[in-house]
Amino acid sequence: MLLEKIEELRARVAELKAADEEALEALRIKYLSKKGEISQLMNEFRTVPAEQKRELGQKINELKNLATARFAELKEGFKAQEKQASKIDITRPAAPVELGTRHPISLVRKQIIDIFSRIGFTIADGPEVEDDMHVFTMLNFAADHPARDMQDTFFISTNPSDVTKNVVLRSHTSSVQSRVMERTQPPIRIICPGRVYRNEAITARAHCFFHQIEGLYIDKNVSFADLKQVLLYFAQELFGPETKIRLRPSYFPFTEPSAEMDVSCMLCGGKGCSFCKNTGWVEILGCGMVDPNVLEACGIDSTVYSGYAFGVGVERITNLKYMVKDLRMFSENDVRFLDEFVAAK
Ligand code: DAH
Repeated sequence: MLLEKIEELRARVAELKAADEEALEALRIKYLSKKGEISQLMNEFRTVPAEQKRELGQKINELKNLATARFAELKEGFKAQEKQASKIDITRPAAPVELGTRHPISLVRKQIIDIFSRIGFTIADGPEVEDDMHVFTMLNFAADHPARDMQDTFFISTNPSDVTKNVVLRSHTSSVQSRVMERTQPPIRIICPGRVYRNEAITARAHCFFHQIEGLYIDKNVSFADLKQVLLYFAQELFGPETKIRLRPSYFPFTEPSAEMDVSCMLCGGKGCSFCKNTGWVEILGCGMVDPNVLEACGIDSTVYSGYAFGVGVERITNLKYMVKDLRMFSENDVRFLDEFVAAK
């Protein structure tokens, strides 16, 4: 009888489980307190015949030890859980995810694209590896123009019997003008953002590659006044409504007349400072009326259509907006420099 009870209790104790510490304590009282089930066995033990006492006594002791160990084990489990739980602070903000930043050149390119998109310009694209025809010949460059020289242009391949078949890295985005005009009849209103290459020593002020945005508008009755007004709008959108512009006569093979545009110095507002070399003006782009020779070379009737073009250097504008002193910063990928543009839009 007693042996069976011991065995039965032993099986229960081995399977013992409690949902929490309170339940565990209740179970401990049920089994191990003075009036608990195991202690009760001792009462019965007294009535056991002498020859069985040794064996049963041992079994009861074993059961007691087993139960004590089991309770200790369960209690330890709860303690460990508690410790673990107190380690996890679910109110703590998550570790911040480091966001990358936009490259300053991308930021400014996007700003310029947005400004022209608002007045109906669409984006056109062309190859960076280009033939002489589209970079120079169709744009009215004379055969002996210095820009065609090895000193200025990177050649991929040369063709002595026909220079128009030379393959070069484009030295300006004006090549996209030729591409678009040869396949499209006016009206044409495009901007062409892209990378250009020139055979220059790399210094703080010059690089062998940089970025330009070319603009082109061809339609009936397009005049220099249209060009001037669009450029004024552009300058004021980019540098603020107080900005003034100034057009100085210049020369480009593909425009006639040609001009270079200055904006009033964004640092001193035109009064004159060291940044604008006391002139009150800083140069930002080249522009002009598309030369009729260019229109004809691209298959557009210059007696019906006229147009204007302009070319902006993206690095130049970025330098002016963010006062970057050294062009090389743009291509060195130094995160300390790039991180400065984290809040820029
Ligand atoms: N292609 C010229 C350059 O790289 C910039 C330029 C000047 C573009 C006048 C034009 C323009 O479209 O009309 O320096």
